[in-house]
Amino acid sequence: MGETILVAGGAGYIGSHVCKALARNGYLPVCYDDLSTGHASAVKWGPLEKGRLGDAVRLAEVIDRHRPSAVVLLAGFIAVGESVVDPARYYLNNVAETITFLNALKDAGISHLVFSSSAAVYGAPRQTPVGEDHPTWPANPYGWTKLMVERMLADYAPAYGMRSVALRYFNAAGADPDGEIGEDHDPETHLIPLALDAALGRREAITIFGDDYDTPDGSCVRDYIHVSDLADAHVLALGWLRGQTQPTAEAFNLGNGNGYSVKEVIATAGRVTKREIPTRMAGRRSGDPAILVSDAGRAKDVLGWTLRHADLETQIAHAWAWHGKKAAAPTD
Ligand code: UFG
Repeated sequence: MGETILVAGGAGYIGSHVCKALARNGYLPVCYDDLSTGHASAVKWGPLEKGRLGDAVRLAEVIDRHRPSAVVLLAGFIAVGESVVDPARYYLNNVAETITFLNALKDAGISHLVFSSSAAVYGAPRQTPVGEDHPTWPANPYGWTKLMVERMLADYAPAYGMRSVALRYFNAAGADPDGEIGEDHDPETHLIPLALDAALGRREAITIFGDDYDTPDGSCVRDYIHVSDLADAHVLALGWLRGQTQPTAEAFNLGNGNGYSVKEVIATAGRVTKREIPTRMAGRRSGDPAILVSDAGRAKDVLGWTLRHADLETQIAHAWAWHGKKAAAPTD
């Protein structure tokens, strides 16, 4: 077995795919997760160590036991709407506890970190597609928590010799093509799983939040990126960090560069599932930009990232295969 990587949040949707990608590339992923939103059943490629981001004693114990050479930090709260209603909870977990986590790495002499950031750091984009040099001005507390940690990483580089990469995800979609893991949030707020629930008859309809945007069909346009492609980028980022001789804090967009509207996503889900997906119209959801599409050229050029599942239909087909399986299985 190769190097050990500590994966904080490895029991979550993206984290479990990162663990699978790490294992496929010869690493041993050690999952550190408090299971507040993740699932023990998604931890399949290495040990699970239960613990909170802000528990310095527990972290020191886990680091001492496994001696990871690098860390992937995905643990965090992710619901944009909830962050507006309860910002204290978001700043406490995604910032305050994260500081304790970063300091535990520093104290243990671990200097290589891949951090889960988000396109939410850009707020309402001034132009499309959005490159990494686009100004960052988040439109909600969730986005601010991500930007604050990016800022800290920039300061930790020269001061403590930290080498980090922040990966700014656009809209994660799909599921493991082998059907081993997939998306399982409670409550679910994301478009594709909700549309698939409507296809399964587990909800009456999918609500379209706004059809009066300045977009071709009036609904919001997003850049959907397959979760396994996202996971691959973490492995590449770790390899890239190993080649860095100087402290660094870099950010890379991860998206596929194609925009699909909410209505197009629902229509595609209808074709993939071969079921009717009832829709209902509602007003705009607060904080939603009309169009959010990435320029991810830098991740391709610098990290050598390539996409295996850029096509929306494939992404939804993988999500659908997982969704049906999940609906039939007991939850943990
Ligand atoms: N949408 C609906 N109906 C729904 C759910 C979503 O119309 O029931 C729409 C939204 O308004 C949006 C699009 O579908 O236009 C996608 O919404 P999601 O909730 O699936 O995803 P978001 O774009 O809001 O958020 C995602 C990540 C966030 C991240 C953000 C960055 O989940 O963590 O992208 O842009 F911050």
